[in-house]
Amino acid sequence: MPGLDDVMLFKPLTLRGVTIPNRVVIAPMQMYMATKDGFYTDWHLVHLGRYAIGKAGLIFTEVLCVEPRGRSTYSDAGIWDDAHVGPLKRVADFLRSCGSVPGVQIGHCGPKAARQRPHEGLKPLGPAEAAKGEPPWTPVASTDEPSDAGYHVPHALTTSEVQDLVATFGRCAARVAPHFDVLDIHAAHGYLIHTFLSPIANKRTDRYGGDRQGRMRFALEIAEAVRAAWPQDKPIFFRLSCIDRAPGGWEMPDTLALAQELRARGIDVIDCSSGGIRGANSIAIFKKIGPPAPGYQVPFAAEVKKTLGMPTMAVGLIAEAKHAEAILRAGDADLVAIAREALANPHWALHASNELQADPNFTFDYWPPNHAWWLQYREEIRRMGRTGAKKDAAA
Ligand SMILES: Cc1cc2nc3c(=O)[nH]c(=O)nc-3n(C[C@H](O)[C@H](O)[C@H](O)COP(=O)(O)O)c2cc1C
Repeated sequence: MPGLDDVMLFKPLTLRGVTIPNRVVIAPMQMYMATKDGFYTDWHLVHLGRYAIGKAGLIFTEVLCVEPRGRSTYSDAGIWDDAHVGPLKRVADFLRSCGSVPGVQIGHCGPKAARQRPHEGLKPLGPAEAAKGEPPWTPVASTDEPSDAGYHVPHALTTSEVQDLVATFGRCAARVAPHFDVLDIHAAHGYLIHTFLSPIANKRTDRYGGDRQGRMRFALEIAEAVRAAWPQDKPIFFRLSCIDRAPGGWEMPDTLALAQELRARGIDVIDCSSGGIRGANSIAIFKKIGPPAPGYQVPFAAEVKKTLGMPTMAVGLIAEAKHAEAILRAGDADLVAIAREALANPHWALHASNELQADPNFTFDYWPPNHAWWLQYREEIRRMGRTGAKKDAAA
């Protein structure tokens, strides 16, 4: 498109048989608005639909939990039942009808399950919630250590339960495969898969614990099961906490080793996040080590991409269009994902299309035509006003 021809953010990216029309990704965001049995609702259609009207290239659902005990709250969305597919398909169809690529994230919250919703405090469910009809359940993890002091003590999965869950991930991927074009496996943020990867959390003595190869086994078997269930012409992303940001934890060399093994199993993109192995969220850690800078996780995406030549997605405090463009131009990532900034500005990609034209006479050509015509008209009037004001001043 004239004006955007040289802009990386608006260049399509083809992964396997899927072409993402631009590099703006809406990161997975739990909305805590699903029904108690995990169904997507109109809320999700409008929530994700607004990003599609805003022409984001790739739009992910929130994490869809692969089993009920893997939900972080009673309002998490699920994909453990064939019946979940209908409302999800409705959302995916709408995203596609707007030209966006519909993406789905699947995962299991592990020891961070059975909690209050974030806006209610994020604490483990207890008697007060039980009295309101939301009793706690026993979460599961690699080991029976709580995610943090005061959290539920999880059940340490037996070896055969781990193997069952591998198959569960595969079945869930198969369920959504006909409707979504990209799948992201959530292995970050202290959720179940992360509790196997991290030496801080994984104290197992069976084949799913011990050295790095043992700790990676669950993630790699899930990658294999999902790849077998997911169409060959559609890409799979893998979201990792690239570092634990904790002494004795998972570090970048571990991420590089895992990414290499994931690639060998047909994973296409590493979705680079960090932290979360202990505690409710990263605020407590950032209070100790200082606030993160914009794009603080970009170096992880850059290292994976530059060391392995593997496509990456950068996420985390990326809010400015020029910053997103610079990340892509530097070759630090292939895709830029936004979460909170999208909540604040659902039409982020459209505004970026104006800003990155770097021309005071930018056009609205990238916008949906029914928006573009009116906004262009208003802009012409504004420009006329500005020109008029200058003439008045000169007179
Ligand atoms: C409301 C909300 C819900 C989130 N839910 C998920 C989720 O379902 N899966 C996930 O991997 N990350 C989740 N995240 C993390 C985001 O995907 C993203 O990695 C993080 O917010 C950093 O990006 P940002 O600075 O652009 O917000 C969530 C973030 C927010 C703000």
